[in-house]
Amino acid sequence: MIVAGVMSGTSADGINVALARISGEPDKGRGLSLRLLGHAEFPYSKAVRGAVLARMNAKSASVADLARLNFLLAELYAKAVVATQRKFREKAELVGCHGQTLYHQGTPEPYLGHKLIVTWQTGEGAVLAQRVGVPVVSDFRVADIAAGGKGAPLVSFLDYTLFRHVSKGRIVLNIGGIANLTAIPPDAALQDLIAFDTGPGNMLIDALAERLLHAPYDQAGKCAAMGTPLEGVLRPLLKAAYFRAKPPKTAGREEFGREFATSFAKAFGRASKQDVLATATALTARSIAQAIQRFVLIKKADYHELIVSGGGLKNATLMAMLANSVKPLGLQVRASDELGLPSEAKEAVAFALLAYETWHRRPSNVPSATGAKKPAVLGKISYV
Ligand SMILES: Nc1ncnc2c1ncn2[C@@H]1O[C@H](COP(=O)(O)OP(=O)(O)O)[C@@H](O)[C@H]1O
Ligand SMILES: [Mg+2]
Repeated sequence: MIVAGVMSGTSADGINVALARISGEPDKGRGLSLRLLGHAEFPYSKAVRGAVLARMNAKSASVADLARLNFLLAELYAKAVVATQRKFREKAELVGCHGQTLYHQGTPEPYLGHKLIVTWQTGEGAVLAQRVGVPVVSDFRVADIAAGGKGAPLVSFLDYTLFRHVSKGRIVLNIGGIANLTAIPPDAALQDLIAFDTGPGNMLIDALAERLLHAPYDQAGKCAAMGTPLEGVLRPLLKAAYFRAKPPKTAGREEFGREFATSFAKAFGRASKQDVLATATALTARSIAQAIQRFVLIKKADYHELIVSGGGLKNATLMAMLANSVKPLGLQVRASDELGLPSEAKEAVAFALLAYETWHRRPSNVPSATGAKKPAVLGKISYV
């Protein structure tokens, strides 16, 4: 079956579409098999990015605007899928669409006498299904939360499908707005995985690039490369509650968004832009290494590879700092591209695979990763 996966992440940089041919069934015969047919990226226009960022964690947002955004994003997703189909001359039979997260709170908080974990992804599946002309699976995270999980990370199912190895332990890391990892011990079963969000990926770097460089990100990490991380700022931050909390755990703009960036920037006094960006970049790299050391390497398993994907790979300074920080842990950094999965396509591919599983009424959350009490069939289906 050919499935299109559509991802628009917390960076709010745009839409990624992957077309994949997927067949088989987990634990039967040769198991699941997945081949990527093509991948394309569609940056949001400045106006759309602005609208999305304004609605994420807004103290107040008009209901009308939220409703409009839900329908508008679906139109943009549809255009992106149609353009990708045309580009690769393939036609999807099913679409899996993550949607745009407007709010994600992975720890229970009291609300009107209830303690709730909540999440919200927008981008209307019904509209997308009509425009593309095939069924759509959307809204994946809520079923995991309903089953007692945190709704994230969901990419672990793909990591397990593509990267498990009989004799090698692998740590698979995605550096998007937030960074998340899946640790797969040698010859692992699904319940052996350790997966969680380590903390900021590009989110803090982007927020500071916006303020200090008036750019959406620090191009290739050039500005950070000219600075020096300030240890005095870095050290206390690495002790923050989120980094100390044990997995399962998940993060978003709620933890590392605008407010975090504002308080981060205040700690610098008159330091140069370069030093501020170097410190933000180091925080991402070191928080990842620290999380691996604390929560992954405690379990006896041989890990030698850190397989990286996501936009963070394009930040050379971040990647150099990461390689330095994980070297003492015996880990070598490799791009997922080297293992046959283009790093920008990974999350879109994940939602194609999750949609395929849902279409076959099979669960695809990883309870050891999300904290769910049981397996859950993820998503809602819109038929044509
Ligand atoms: N050329 C580049 N140089 C530095 N950083 C980049 C570059 N291209 C992309 N990025 C970073 O990658 C981010 C997008 O990564 P992505 O994996 O799409 O994240 P998300 O899943 O949150 O959308 C951008 O916001 C930016 O921080
Ligand atoms: Mg993105």
